[in-house]
Amino acid sequence: MAEKNETRVAAVADIHYGKTAKGKLRDLFVDATSTADVLVIAGDLTEYGSPEEATVLAEDLRTHVRIPVIAVLGNHDFESGKSAEVQSALESVGVTFLDGSGIEVNGVGFAGVCGFGGGFDRQMLSAWGEPLIKAFVQEGVDHSLRLGKALTNLTTEKRVVVLHYSPVRSTVKGENPEIYPFLGSSHLESVIDNFGASVVFHGHAHSGEAEGKTTKDIPVFNVALPVLMRTSKKPFLLYKV
Ligand SMILES: [Fe+2]
Ligand SMILES: [Fe+2]
Repeated sequence: MAEKNETRVAAVADIHYGKTAKGKLRDLFVDATSTADVLVIAGDLTEYGSPEEATVLAEDLRTHVRIPVIAVLGNHDFESGKSAEVQSALESVGVTFLDGSGIEVNGVGFAGVCGFGGGFDRQMLSAWGEPLIKAFVQEGVDHSLRLGKALTNLTTEKRVVVLHYSPVRSTVKGENPEIYPFLGSSHLESVIDNFGASVVFHGHAHSGEAEGKTTKDIPVFNVALPVLMRTSKKPFLLYKV
């Protein structure tokens, strides 16, 4: 049971639904419904970003989930160039997608973006040189700005940030360091620290660490399904905020 004024968030990412995945995460969805007040899915909802995959997931969510579902898209959801259709298939069963926007559930604000790469700390890629490098860096900056806008618009004291890409290096540790620049960006961390948040959930780094924090000690959880199964043997993180 949640304490008074506490909201129980079930958080997971990287569920990678394929066309034949019907029923794959039934237990997760049923369990989340009975133990949490809201389900967060932090990107890579589908394997190839196809509307057919999204429809299979939508059907499972419609059948098994009875709590609000909040999500951001992940890089896999863009793979087929049909992310709008993926999103609308899931919105048709009540999923709320965040992209520079926020929503309030039970008095808790949720702000989210997919996020993007660029790397961390002093090793972060800077906008210098070829136009493509500058465009890559700008994409990461734009996601951070949209997250800032979403956080600014939330009026709640408790604020949950939902990302696909990581805002910190600590939760991607375990991945090959050569791919760190494609797993997240410190631009996201700066915005989170500037505007403040109670907690951050992200995915994407399947081989990363489960837990980290920002420079200002805001807790960050990598809730990629493979990470959860490896570290806690549970298919979602139950976090009270
Ligand atoms: Fe993934
Ligand atoms: Fe991903």
